[in-house]
Amino acid sequence: MNIGIIGAGNIGATLAAKLSACGHSVRLANSRGPETIAEVARKAGATAVTREEAVKGADAVILSTPFTAHQGLAELLKIVPASVPVIDTSNYYPFRDDAIPALAQGKPESVWASEQAGRPLIKAWNAVLAATLADKGMPVGVTERIAIPVAGDDETAKRIAMALVSDTGFDAVDAGSLAESWRQQPGTPAYCTELSAAALKKALLAADKERAPVNREALLKEFMSASEPLTHEHIVARNRAVTT
Ligand SMILES: NC(=O)c1ccc[n+]([C@@H]2O[C@H](COP(=O)([O-])OP(=O)(O)OC[C@H]3O[C@@H](n4cnc5c(N)ncnc54)[C@H](OP(=O)(O)O)[C@@H]3O)[C@@H](O)[C@H]2O)c1
Repeated sequence: MNIGIIGAGNIGATLAAKLSACGHSVRLANSRGPETIAEVARKAGATAVTREEAVKGADAVILSTPFTAHQGLAELLKIVPASVPVIDTSNYYPFRDDAIPALAQGKPESVWASEQAGRPLIKAWNAVLAATLADKGMPVGVTERIAIPVAGDDETAKRIAMALVSDTGFDAVDAGSLAESWRQQPGTPAYCTELSAAALKKALLAADKERAPVNREALLKEFMSASEPLTHEHIVARNRAVTT
């Protein structure tokens, strides 16, 4: 497939490398221009392009930008046909992305992001740490394969996103509609807890909408006040312990 990725950071560049490695043709863009990500793209086996070039003719578009970038991408996304899935990896953290009253009142983050972007979104790869994505992908059928939730309203677009998730080395679990996607937001048991598909399905059902932001803030406070660098294993273990 021709895949356009907007955002060339931790997640965007890693997705570019994973998807290129399994045969997709990947174009990678950021806001500052292709010359600023030439090396990142080369290492990923992708082509550094402008944002317009990334989305033009793409069979799927992936947004991997800061949560607040969606509104600024709406004009760009108008040239993407409605049949092309736009998959969003973003998460909302109030300390980083500023207070957004609608989210504080419980609107699912991706519903808000979709409104800002002016088109339906599929939510995927948001609930996996960058290091998990980079290092813990496994072939289809391996018992220990980690699962990733995928939410969205268009079933065809969601199936395409789920197939791409599998291409990156993870089982894809259908997490329902975008309105239900709060179940994979920060602070839920599905978020960055490295579960199998069976365990992830249970975690999505067990999510508590009121508790999620409380958990998110408690974990953030704990992680940011740690006196020494935290290991990946510790972060996953604490995510599990606090959210279940
Ligand atoms: N890091 C994680 O572990 C993780 C895990 C899951 C999900 N996420 C979420 O995934 C998203 C990306 O995370 P990340 O860690 O990859 O962030 P990051 O490393 O900061 O990368 C963000 C990328 O977006 C680009 N960008 C910013 N504004 C843009 C715009 N308006 N148009 C085009 N490109 C733009 C940045 O490049 P320029 O500034 O040069 O444009 C950069 O390449 C975030 O929403 C994050 O919450 C992160």
